[in-house]
Amino acid sequence: MLSVTRIRQDFPILKRKINGHPLVYFDNAATSQKPQIVIDAIKNYYENYNANVHRGVHTLANEATMAYEESREKIKKFINAKSTKEIIFTKNDTEAINLVAYAWGRNHLKKGDEILLSVTEHHSNLVPWQILAKEKGAKLKFIDIDKEGNLDLNSFIKNLNSKTKLVALVWISNTLGTINPVAKLIKLSHQNGSLVLIDGAQYVPHQQTNVQKIDCDFLVFTGHKMLGPMGTGVLYAKEKILEEMPPFLAGGDMIREVYLEKTIYNDLPYKFEAGTPNVGDFIALGTATTYLNSVGLLQIRDHEKKLTLYTLKKMSEIKNVEIYGPSDVNNRGGIVAFNIAGVHPHDVASIFDDYGIAIRSGHHCTMPLHQRLKLTASCRASFYLYNTTDEIDCLLNAILKVKKVFGVK
Ligand code: ALA
Repeated sequence: MLSVTRIRQDFPILKRKINGHPLVYFDNAATSQKPQIVIDAIKNYYENYNANVHRGVHTLANEATMAYEESREKIKKFINAKSTKEIIFTKNDTEAINLVAYAWGRNHLKKGDEILLSVTEHHSNLVPWQILAKEKGAKLKFIDIDKEGNLDLNSFIKNLNSKTKLVALVWISNTLGTINPVAKLIKLSHQNGSLVLIDGAQYVPHQQTNVQKIDCDFLVFTGHKMLGPMGTGVLYAKEKILEEMPPFLAGGDMIREVYLEKTIYNDLPYKFEAGTPNVGDFIALGTATTYLNSVGLLQIRDHEKKLTLYTLKKMSEIKNVEIYGPSDVNNRGGIVAFNIAGVHPHDVASIFDDYGIAIRSGHHCTMPLHQRLKLTASCRASFYLYNTTDEIDCLLNAILKVKKVFGVK
């Protein structure tokens, strides 16, 4: 069991009042809050050993390089990668996908090839492939969902064929919360000869990740959704694939030898990390993984499952509230999207804010999914390790207040 009361003390922002009410932070799918230990790691870096990495021989440069690379080791362990060569630091999840689209996609795709995505993808796992497909004359195919928002396996199998060069799928939908059975889908894709990219932005922060077990070719995720700072994204890719890929961005640090006419690139992972990196923030991301491990990913998942079950049960008892996504919490992360009949989600979110409750409203960077569901927008509450059932009760009460304001029965 997770001690939420104790955990909450680690997050200074949770002491804040918003409009006279204690902050209820339910926008974790957009970004998580940060524990003091992560905030201190950034401060400590800038106060005590700020220096550029991989360049200097002085003490500060050595200390910064060691801490930065130690962080890479922690992240490697966090997702059970084989080697730190497979851990590329990027700006965010979006940049990691763009890296793959640019450096792998432009060299492996040709006219007529297909990329298989789902209708639930975040724009970051859609737009880069649209650009690539247009440039290469390749085609995008889409896996549909069933009535509850689960990925339709028949649609997956129907769309997978000899032209499918890449399957790029979200692990947990940032809107519906659906957990896709990625291990099974990766196995089928590999049997078909297709590589697989998994967007782990909403999974890696919340559940134990084992890239060797699921056998994905690429996994992308972002540090700011897992208690780390913004500006810290990660691309995991199998070493053999990265070795064969040309660089993405070019310049300092990604080189071994440079001549006026040619360059010999650096070893992995540095070949893909051009320029001065975000040293202090990646060190703090390493600290965030230490914190998450100390709480326990299994415990975090269990806690979020309970919160989600409670929310689904109580919210479904309120008339004229429509909930989206799977009813089985075994197939669902801690994300609940909903609408109150006849009330625009922005109005809902704005009234919630009057009571100190932060949710996201709009299309959550999944416009095609909203089109598929015939919705213009939705409200979304998303949970993390520091949330409580009392906070969910606040949200349920706020729904009743919204209904009253708008005269919804
Ligand atoms: N991808 C983030 C979200 O779903 C920003 O809110």
